[in-house]
Amino acid sequence: MARTKFVIGWLVLCMVALTADSAKAVSSEDCLACHEDPSLANEQGVLLHVNPEIYQASIHGESGIACTDCHIDLADVEEFPHPAPLTKVDCSMCHDTEFEDYKKSVHGEAFVAGDSAAPVCSTCHGKHDIKRASDPESSVFSLKLVEICIKCHTDTKIVAEHNLPPPEKIRAYENSVHMKALKEKGLSVSAACNDCHGSHKIKPPDDPDSITNRLNLPKTCAKCHQGIYQTYLESVHGQDYLKGNTDVPICTDCHGEHSIKSHTSTESTVHSTHIAEICSKCHEDETLGKRYGFAAQRLKSYLGTYHGIASKMGDTTVANCASCHGYHDIRPPNDPKSSVHPDNIPTTCGKCHPQAGKNFAVGKVHVSEARESSMGAYVVEKFYTIFITASIGGFVIFIVADLYARRKKAKRATAAKKEKESTEEGSHTHD
Ligand code: HEC
Ligand code: HEC
Ligand code: HEC
Ligand code: HEC
Ligand code: HEC
Ligand code: HEC
Ligand code: HEC
Ligand code: HEC
Ligand code: HEC
Ligand code: HEC
Ligand code: HEC
Repeated sequence: MARTKFVIGWLVLCMVALTADSAKAVSSEDCLACHEDPSLANEQGVLLHVNPEIYQASIHGESGIACTDCHIDLADVEEFPHPAPLTKVDCSMCHDTEFEDYKKSVHGEAFVAGDSAAPVCSTCHGKHDIKRASDPESSVFSLKLVEICIKCHTDTKIVAEHNLPPPEKIRAYENSVHMKALKEKGLSVSAACNDCHGSHKIKPPDDPDSITNRLNLPKTCAKCHQGIYQTYLESVHGQDYLKGNTDVPICTDCHGEHSIKSHTSTESTVHSTHIAEICSKCHEDETLGKRYGFAAQRLKSYLGTYHGIASKMGDTTVANCASCHGYHDIRPPNDPKSSVHPDNIPTTCGKCHPQAGKNFAVGKVHVSEARESSMGAYVVEKFYTIFITASIGGFVIFIVADLYARRKKAKRATAAKKEKESTEEGSHTHD
């Protein structure tokens, strides 16, 4: 079968060659005469089939690119079957910008050094079925691209040989708010690997040119979270970030990178139950405190307060660091715009303590020792809560039980009365 097609193709070509101007290059139809055969294979058994419909529907087919524009060895071929092997297709002939970026990337450098594990253009884009990057059918469209990146970056052999981060660190992305948004909500505007790493210019995070480098990362998140970025830049942390200070937190210090969750999830690093932990990575630190002139041991001094004790016991209604300080807009207490500036205390504490005045916070929020009064207040309040709940509960049970008993008694009484009446009636008829 394959052989007959091959012979027919060959005959067609001979006729074409005889009738056509000898200077004219072969057309794609000429190539497809042999290559549309699904069983065409070379001696090693590698399939050489090219589906004409798929090629026509590709961006190159649509743009009128001929087979020989990519397979340039065959541009002037006159005899068939043509010689093989052919040189590899060089996409940079037409896509110079992408190639220049790729060449400088961690992948491109590895490829140039002869590393066969590095992705090349066709690893991500395909060969004969290439679509526009914005086409949901494209192999580089969000979720499909994620699969391509994950496949290599969770391959234990590639990871071990290249000293790459362990697969779990990459797979964490699969449970992130960003992947969930892509997969479950169909939000194609959510972050796929390339939104944070780039596509052609991917570099390791410690390279200052990498968009995941500490000094560039907030801008990378800002592509989609612009408002938060602006707020952050005005905060005490953001102001120092702008100066190139690496002691202050950037987005990923608080949120993580591949594992980012919605703040409402208990697994989120910024869920109300974990915030104290996050801030304390730095604000327990005496060296940092000395360096920047702020009081350290903020966790210890928070844990000594009513809020800290209650929060440690799992109470989520009390204040955590962010309820008082904010999170993206944190400012020093002496900044009039700070939520903990004395002028703003009534509003900040007032969210939960309607009676709060300007001096409400004095000596109450960061205390150096677990204060008797806080512990006392906590115990007393919990005691009352339990006592009152138990009392009311007991009372309700008592009332219900009593009502029940009364009804039962009343029922029994009426039943007895009826019985008595009916026996009396019976005696009458017997009469
Ligand atoms: C007469 C049939 C025929 C025609 C026409 C034909 N090919 Fe082939 N092609 C083959 C065969 C057979 C092989 C396997 C050759 C081998 O591996 O020895 C092959 C192999 C190839 C390969 C793989 C080369 C490699 O390095 O392994 C490419 C690419 C290719 N053809 C492209 C084309 C293009 C482009 C055209 C049109 C210009 C074309 N072919 C026209 C029969 C044909
Ligand atoms: C946009 C560039 C491009 C165009 C256009 C193109 N090819 Fe290819 N083709 C490739 C790439 C890339 C490969 C993978 C091998 C390589 O890198 O050389 C390939 C491989 C092949 C192979 C080897 C089998 C395989 O699938 O790996 C055949 C046969 C082939 N092409 C035939 C054709 C034919 C026939 C046409 C026209 C209908 C065509 N190609 C058009 C880029 C192209
Ligand atoms: C690691 C995967 C990967 C590799 C390797 C890769 N690309 Fe891309 N490419 C993408 C992604 C993802 C997009 C779409 C998003 C974007 O533009 O960043 C894209 C977009 C494109 C575009 C569309 C224009 C544009 O910038 O939006 C062209 C053209 C392109 N790539 C060509 C190439 C060429 C040529 C190579 C090889 C030198 C190559 N790509 C290598 C992933 C890759
Ligand atoms: C002979 C020139 C030529 C070669 C070689 C070539 N392309 Fe293209 N490519 C084009 C043209 C023309 C377009 C359509 C451009 C347009 O309309 O914006 C295109 C479009 C694309 C697009 C879609 C761009 C977009 O807007 O999203 C991608 C991706 C792409 N090519 C990848 C490749 C890859 C990968 C290779 C190598 C396997 C390759 N191209 C080889 C000419 C070429
Ligand atoms: C074909 C396999 C393959 C694919 C697909 C692939 N990578 Fe890679 N990647 C590698 C290899 C191999 C290295 C190591 C290169 C080296 O260090 O020499 C690497 C390195 C990296 C690095 C640098 C890590 C470091 O610390 O040095 C990042 C970041 C990266 N890849 C991200 C991506 C992203 C994002 C995608 C998808 C857009 C992707 N990769 C797709 C194989 C792949
Ligand atoms: C929301 C942004 C974001 C997304 C989405 C994302 N990454 Fe990352 N990735 C980062 C940041 C930030 C770092 C740098 C962490 C650091 O500084 O150690 C990183 C680091 C890496 C590294 C190198 C780690 C190292 O320590 O050398 C690889 C490889 C990587 N990511 C691959 C991927 C792959 C594959 C995907 C998609 C499945 C992906 N990333 C999705 C932000 C992201
Ligand atoms: C100092 C720690 C910290 C830094 C730095 C930080 N965040 Fe947040 N972020 C939080 C906390 C805490 C919450 C949750 C607040 C809550 O419970 O409502 C949050 C919430 C969010 C939310 C959910 C929406 C909202 O506003 O509640 C997004 C999105 C977000 N952050 C993105 C970012 C981005 C992007 C950056 C970098 C520009 C960043 N964050 C920097 C701590 C931080
Ligand atoms: C390409 C766009 C894009 C980029 C880049 C991006 N995000 Fe997101 N992010 C989204 C979208 C869209 C959602 C909303 C998902 C949803 O609602 O389910 C989201 C959700 C989040 C959330 C959860 C919000 C909540 O409700 O608590 C956090 C936190 C977050 N992103 C942080 C980051 C950080 C940090 C970076 C940078 C490392 C980043 N994002 C980069 C698009 C992006
Ligand atoms: C990665 C370390 C780091 C993390 C995490 C961090 N901070 Fe900071 N924070 C700093 C540094 C360093 C400064 C000093 C900046 C300066 O004064 O220039 C600072 C300054 C402050 C200040 C102003 C202190 C003053 O008086 O000037 C407050 C308030 C503050 N942080 C609260 C928080 C809260 C609340 C969190 C958690 C939501 C947090 N920080 C998370 C490092 C961190
Ligand atoms: C109930 C509200 C409240 C909570 C909860 C709270 N703070 Fe504060 N914080 C304040 C107020 C008010 C001030 C300013 C007065 C003071 O220092 O006592 C302050 C001051 C600070 C300062 C600046 C100290 C200085 O010397 O300039 C830092 C840093 C700080 N807090 C971090 C934290 C961290 C980290 C947490 C969580 C572990 C936290 N705070 C919990 C209200 C709070
Ligand atoms: C997110 C809500 C919330 C915020 C904001 C908040 N608190 Fe509280 N606080 C509580 C809850 C809940 C209790 C438990 C007792 C109660 O309901 O009064 C409590 C208890 C206290 C107590 C111990 C009990 C008492 O009444 O003596 C003090 C002192 C206190 N808060 C001070 C403050 C100060 C000062 C601020 C502002 C800097 C503040 N709180 C902000 C929720 C909050």
